Amino acid sequence: MPRQTYYITTPIYYVNDMPHIGHIYTTVMADIFARYHRLSGREVRFLTGTDEHGQKIEKSAAAQGLEPIQLADKVVERYKHLWEVLNISHDDFIRTSQPRHQAGVAEMIKRIHASGDIFKGEYQGWYCAGAEAFVPDSQVEDGKDIESGYPVERLSEPSWFFKLSAYQDRLLTWYRENPECIKPKSRYNEVLRFVEGGLRDLSISRTSVKWGVPFPEDPEHVVYVWLDALTNYVSALGLGSEDSSLFDEFWPAQIHLVGKDILRFHCVYWPAFLMSAGIPLPKMIFGHGWWMKDETKMSKSLGNVVRPDHLIEKFGTDSLRYFLAREMAFGLDATFSDQAFLERFNADLANALGNTASRAVSMTGRFLDSQIPRDGDCGPIPEVARNTVEKYISHMEKLEPHRALETTWQLLSAINVFIQERQPWALAKKGDEGRAGLEGTLYGALEGLRIASLLIEPFMPDTAKALRTQRGATDLPTNLAAAPEWGGLKTGQAIGETTPLFPRVEIKKAMQEMALQDEQKADEKSSAAQGSETDESEDLIPIDDFAKVKLVVGVVKEAERVPKSKKLVRLMVDLAEPELRQIVAGIGAKYAPEDLLGRRIVVVSNLKPAKLMGVESRGMLLAASLDGDPDLLSPDGEVPPGTGVR
Ligand code: MSP
Repeated sequence: MPRQTYYITTPIYYVNDMPHIGHIYTTVMADIFARYHRLSGREVRFLTGTDEHGQKIEKSAAAQGLEPIQLADKVVERYKHLWEVLNISHDDFIRTSQPRHQAGVAEMIKRIHASGDIFKGEYQGWYCAGAEAFVPDSQVEDGKDIESGYPVERLSEPSWFFKLSAYQDRLLTWYRENPECIKPKSRYNEVLRFVEGGLRDLSISRTSVKWGVPFPEDPEHVVYVWLDALTNYVSALGLGSEDSSLFDEFWPAQIHLVGKDILRFHCVYWPAFLMSAGIPLPKMIFGHGWWMKDETKMSKSLGNVVRPDHLIEKFGTDSLRYFLAREMAFGLDATFSDQAFLERFNADLANALGNTASRAVSMTGRFLDSQIPRDGDCGPIPEVARNTVEKYISHMEKLEPHRALETTWQLLSAINVFIQERQPWALAKKGDEGRAGLEGTLYGALEGLRIASLLIEPFMPDTAKALRTQRGATDLPTNLAAAPEWGGLKTGQAIGETTPLFPRVEIKKAMQEMALQDEQKADEKSSAAQGSETDESEDLIPIDDFAKVKLVVGVVKEAERVPKSKKLVRLMVDLAEPELRQIVAGIGAKYAPEDLLGRRIVVVSNLKPAKLMGVESRGMLLAASLDGDPDLLSPDGEVPPGTGVR
């Protein structure tokens, strides 16, 4: 019988921003499922990649003085590096700038055209570059798209349209006949209600954007970035190429894993495009929740995004993977906090997992000559392990990875209690009389932990391997069909060293260090940005060096003091970009926030972001500094925001 296939995808990431934990979450969860299904014997294909076209990227690149492809190349490197560090096991990484993808988009449009679903017209209405979405009038308030919160602009341009309105009934039939096609249920209902409300034809090309796939046979237009991006799921399988083998093997996808914010694109537009192109529909779209910080949405403009680097550096890849998978009930929102991270690190990883694992191995070293003992009376552990494996598989199949972990930790806790109750150290003292009890106890603990390692594998692959190595089980199989059966560990086999897997952290101290590190980084960045006051400041620089600094006029739209700081003020500045820029400046001793509103200032717009007292600053304003007392620089006249300064 051919192996069951499992095609899983992540959204492809915009390249206007460096990844934060929200982006990482989607990919880590997809990786966990990909690994789980591989261990379950399925033929898995796991796709991720980058969404490189469109107005948002075009503007971001221009603001940094780069060509869009240069910006894309830079951010793609960052993503690829991060996926390596995070142990992401994708089979393919697609970039929408690749020719293979563009061929797929051209094929898609050709098919939609052939179905008679495309017509030419004029788009007049709002566009939100932040979400790359055409926004109906009813969804615009105070110049913003109320759904995404990003500013909108008025467009009036020739456009190709897709007859989305003709797909309302077919979509509703698909949802109703496939109640599992959108998950969780609440999101299914949301999409159903939206489509029941009626669909308008969709603009699928732009003329005022240049950075995109040329519209077939009408190269004045580029393809609308969402039609371009969604097609990645099939272009990566070779749609539009001669070779259809991957497409034939893996399409339709088992699951498109996406964040809830992009559900409509995936659950309405994508299936309609596919229906029109005569391509089967994916089996499921899963919309996961959002990571919040301090009860608010994590966003670059609010400066509250959590970047993964420090967490990985200090606590390791597996701790972050574990936390993301365990803390968030899959499908719901969750809050990220350093404290919650550290508490889970200590309780779940250092204690429940690390301690239990090292106790069993060190006692085997001390009392049993570092050899796997004989199987014997292992108390309740074989039964608990069997039940755990069953429950774990059921949770994973039902897309409840957080519950699968919870179950696995119940097995760890049972092993810990078992060791405590049996007291191997006391049995060891009894000599021959206690020997059988001692061997049964330690076999139970070691074998229980080997089984736990198999369940941990998709979530924390390195830790799972370390656990098996410690138990002398490196060469044992890891497939989930047979490997969890009791009795895998071979009597007499030498066990490995006890190396602590997760050394406990002192929470208060670690939190202080984390806060300090944020500040130090900010200081380093701002002093590097501002230049040092050494003799070097007298050195002459070539004009090219000066040209690297991008100075633009900005208008202050919002201003407030940074809590607990005397000097720092957080500004939201209009630089004529899709989003306002957040800039933190040390001008609070002289300027009251309300006096800054509407003021024109000069901003260094291409500085690397820095954090000041935990708040991200994406740029620096210019001020004359007299004995450290800042005096803001402003242009003379009413120059529009975004104007360059030389
Ligand atoms: N480029 C589009 C997707 C095109 S797919 C054909 C896009 N990119 S994105 O970079 O903005 O977002 C990628 C994913 O990151 C989305 O699934 C989004 O939901 C997720 N997240 C971004 N911030 C998030 C949180 N704070 N929390 C959880 N996930 C969020 O959208």
